[in-house]
Amino acid sequence: MRRKLAAGNWKMNGTATSLAELEKLSSLYPNPDIDILICPPATLLHRAAQAVQANSVIVGGQDCHALVAGAHTGDLSAEMLKDAGAEYVILGHSERRQDHGESDELVRAKAIAAKDAGLIAIVCVGESLEQREAAETLDVIGEQMSGSIPDQPIGENLVVAYEPIWAIGTGKVPTLDQICEVHDFMRAKLEDRFGAASASSIRLLYGGSVKPKNASEIFSVSNVDGALVGGASLKAEDFSGIIQALENA
Ligand code: PGA
Repeated sequence: MRRKLAAGNWKMNGTATSLAELEKLSSLYPNPDIDILICPPATLLHRAAQAVQANSVIVGGQDCHALVAGAHTGDLSAEMLKDAGAEYVILGHSERRQDHGESDELVRAKAIAAKDAGLIAIVCVGESLEQREAAETLDVIGEQMSGSIPDQPIGENLVVAYEPIWAIGTGKVPTLDQICEVHDFMRAKLEDRFGAASASSIRLLYGGSVKPKNASEIFSVSNVDGALVGGASLKAEDFSGIIQALENA
């Protein structure tokens, strides 16, 4: 059985006052039946890890460097995130692929670094609107998965998030059939490469304009094991609506 995961990505939002939202969330879910993750900006990571209660919300990073240490001004290693209290790290988000030119090869190297540091990598894949309109979605997802996912993953070190770029922050969401098609394809792709046992342990998240009002229907889709949420994870109340939908799914 895959444990469901509600993951929040605060992106470049949040200062010390935002920790109150995290404390609120943690007190609402002292012992949740699902994994609840918040990935705040790195400046808040250590304080965030201290602000949450044990066995409640967990925290993660939004990116890491592929190397363990060295002369890389401004970068953070997976080990540093772990040291600050992270249990997960988001890798290859489309905003990093776009803003920082991250390739599949780099994302894969980062995922290996994350695993070596004892973090669970959430590897993101997703097509642009042009690619969807050109009926290239499954080719793009397949290629990104082949390139970005390292060998021998298991559920304890990898989560894959399907995030259509055109759905992120836009309020547009694919149809349930479209989500289903991609998630079934992703599960089959993992099975082909790693075998049924490993593939069935890896959680698949949907991300892109997930809100309390559309969460239940999205979570009813087969092979959707949770969500990666941007905007609606910033406020405990909004994120709580998504958590409840996932708990009830
Ligand atoms: P959104 O972001 O929920 O604000 O659309 C999703 C994401 O980028 O993970």
